[in-house]
Amino acid sequence: MSDTLHQLSERFMSLTGSKPDGVWSAPGRVNLIGEHTDYNEGFVLPFAIDRRTRAAVGLRADGVIRVTSTFDNTSVELPLSGLDAARSAGEIVGWSAYPLGVAWALGQHGADLTTLPGADIIIDSTVPVGAGLSSSAAIESSVALALNDLWSLGFSREQLAKAGQLAENDVVGAPTGIMDQSASLLGATDSAVFLDCRSLDVTVIPLGLAHAELSILVMDTRVSHSHATGGYAERRASCEAGASAMGVSSLRDVSVSDLDRARELLDDVTFRRIRHVVTENQRVLDTVRTLNEDGPLAIGALLDASHVSLRDDFEISIPELDLAVETARAHGAIGARMTGGGFGGAAIALVPHARVPDVESAVRDAFAAKGFTEPVTFTVTPSTGAERNDIDGSRD
Ligand code: GLA
Repeated sequence: MSDTLHQLSERFMSLTGSKPDGVWSAPGRVNLIGEHTDYNEGFVLPFAIDRRTRAAVGLRADGVIRVTSTFDNTSVELPLSGLDAARSAGEIVGWSAYPLGVAWALGQHGADLTTLPGADIIIDSTVPVGAGLSSSAAIESSVALALNDLWSLGFSREQLAKAGQLAENDVVGAPTGIMDQSASLLGATDSAVFLDCRSLDVTVIPLGLAHAELSILVMDTRVSHSHATGGYAERRASCEAGASAMGVSSLRDVSVSDLDRARELLDDVTFRRIRHVVTENQRVLDTVRTLNEDGPLAIGALLDASHVSLRDDFEISIPELDLAVETARAHGAIGARMTGGGFGGAAIALVPHARVPDVESAVRDAFAAKGFTEPVTFTVTPSTGAERNDIDGSRD
């Protein structure tokens, strides 16, 4: 159960003896389409969801940063000026690596950590952990926005997204791209964030889900995954090896018409990894065009094709994700696909409002029949990105 803004503020007072200077919140994200394209300088189309992390933050005078959370009673504190040494020594571990990593990364972007005041931070979240909905980016983005405001750093949201990514890459140790933080910081109501991960140009694309009476159903397999270990880094390395064999700096420079040449140059596995990325980039562009011209009822086949490519070419799906996708399709979803980094986590389905209960019960039954762990299903609404919340006002 998560705290309300008022409870979070009270909790902050009992920890520090004073009121927080503010509460900042940032959402998790669902990626509509564009998977494993971000670190290949390609295209992604995620949206921010109505599950958020909140950070109650107050300045302190002694240059110390202290982080604690409502989901873990431990509290970690370090002098800001000691963050770099602690990072090099591998001493920043566990979930505190996200907020402390962000403070360190802001220093790498030019904030002077030797002179800034410290901060007390309490974090609370309704973004499920390990479901592929970017609970980590939600922590990073809420803390980045809070410290940017309180320390008057003047960084843009795009710069804050890069700081979040740097924290994730260099402090948490997950070699992830820029998508999750961008969605969390730049999301807008009933819209997706179309991001060119090479130029970092952002276009907000209206989704029109409410008008089309469509829901996005998340089907969390509850198979947990981590991007700091194993498969994610291996896929990234295959993409880089493939790009270099093709003589380009990133797969962004390989197009669908180059695939015949790629097949001749590369071994079968590397070729299929690359075919996924190249065709997925095209699917993102096609999805944006289709949304603009025909609306969300017309994008189902693109979502389905993305899943097939992730399953067969990129090979990052798992039986639970495949079953969720197939069952949703068979019970009225317009399209469905796994979302996020893969190897576990959640799938999404685009479902007419009236069919949602049928799809949910069919997925539950199908999982039970296979002896899989009971999935958790819920709908999400494309929502606004990170913001400062009014502690005493109505935005709780
Ligand atoms: C994770 C990473 C993202 C992105 C996706 C796959 O969510 O954090 O940067 O690479 O996987 O699309």
